[in-house]
Amino acid sequence: MARLPGPPLWQQGLTGVRMRRDPLGEIMKLHERYGPVFAIGAGPLKYVWLIGPEAHRELFTGIDRFEWRPVTKVVEVVDGKTAVVVSHGEDHQRRRRIVQPAFNIRRIEAQIPLMVEEVRRTIGRWTVGADLDVYEELRQCIRRIVMRALFGDRFSNQADELGDRLQPALDFVDRPLPQIKIGPAWRRARRARRSTDELVFAEIARRRAENTTGGDDVLSWLLDASDPEGDGARLSDQEVRDQVVSLIAAGYETTSAAVGWTMWASLANPGVWERLRAEVGDEPITAERLRTLTYLDGVVSESLRLWPPGAAAGRKLIGEIEAAGLRLRAGTIALYSPYVTQRVPQYWPDPLVFRPDRWDKNAPGYVEPAPLSYVPFGAGPRRCLGFALALTEIKVLISEVVRAVDFDLLDTAEPAGESIASLRPKGGVHVRVRSVRQPAAPATT
Ligand code: HEM
Repeated sequence: MARLPGPPLWQQGLTGVRMRRDPLGEIMKLHERYGPVFAIGAGPLKYVWLIGPEAHRELFTGIDRFEWRPVTKVVEVVDGKTAVVVSHGEDHQRRRRIVQPAFNIRRIEAQIPLMVEEVRRTIGRWTVGADLDVYEELRQCIRRIVMRALFGDRFSNQADELGDRLQPALDFVDRPLPQIKIGPAWRRARRARRSTDELVFAEIARRRAENTTGGDDVLSWLLDASDPEGDGARLSDQEVRDQVVSLIAAGYETTSAAVGWTMWASLANPGVWERLRAEVGDEPITAERLRTLTYLDGVVSESLRLWPPGAAAGRKLIGEIEAAGLRLRAGTIALYSPYVTQRVPQYWPDPLVFRPDRWDKNAPGYVEPAPLSYVPFGAGPRRCLGFALALTEIKVLISEVVRAVDFDLLDTAEPAGESIASLRPKGGVHVRVRSVRQPAAPATT
């Protein structure tokens, strides 16, 4: 097999240093230089990057040619060994079939009032003239929404405690490079997991003992659900624990990051906030109304294009694939980057310009994005399970804030991105509250 494009051996050291400093910037440069498929590193630390739709085609099909665990096993310290995200083969498909209905659109839409209630509670604490990190404020709000959605209201008084206990483990897996299983950060992550598990297993035991079934929350679903295509077997307590905790891990920092970038872009680009407010209006946010807010949809899509929180992901090949005309052999670690692909000028005219109207099918000059050129949630059989929940949350939060509050952005410079597992605005998004109108209407479905 011919050598794949990529930096020559003598440049690998320098590439490694640059990758550590600015991984996404470096992948952008390597893509410009070597094209859609290129290899960096050597031996077991050799990675092949696949950028753009031609390179993506086989990466997002044929689930049996890939294995996820070699790339995702770092998250096992938080997620456990049976989480969907680290599972493989038949185990993966069974667990995914069981978990997926918990995220169907009907169940998600039923949680809109809860989302509205939490964001209004957050807005209710903001006063005119106050300086805030609006990313951090909404991140705390999302944490409460995620906990209530997963565990229901009875457990919600413990939601903040559970979030606090888990945070050191989330911080550990969020670091950019493969993590070493020794040292203080690893021990903190282990302790965080043990202390989170005490709460989660206690809640599982309580529900099993009380035989509380049929609730709206995800935990109730997981305790009740069985594989629709299997023999009716349910998830074990360990499997339930792993799904619940991994869903917090997969959903909370990513969604918060997306809200942070959307807030920044909406405030930094003239006219966006005003157009959003005009579209959102005063009517309560319901599932039906959300579907009609096309400008909001464009703003969120454009933010996920420029700053996709899952900025890169990967799998190991256990069979051969073809990518943009090159053959990749079994054993290769293949990575893709929504961040880089979604900034390639060939697919995205003026790629660095934040232009929500590029998503409006009725706008003059609309060009439909090429298939697999927009992959903030991945694609194919391992596509993000929580994408509809994430999009609903982002839209509800942005609409409620937009219609109630005016901010002055304290720093208009684009924040640097931090982390590639949940790319977020480094240092936050700092604003001063110019005016705030507390909403009178109750949250309704
Ligand atoms: C803006 C927010 C989010 C982004 C950008 C995002 C992104 C992604 C991406 C790119 C993948 C695919 C990785 C791959 O190709 O291997 C993924 C997988 C996954 N996501 Fe998300 N995600 C978000 C929110 C959520 C939420 C809210 C949840 C659930 C509460 C969630 C649960 C999952 C799960 C379980 C998987 C693994 C699916 C599988 O392997 O079958 N995500 N996510």
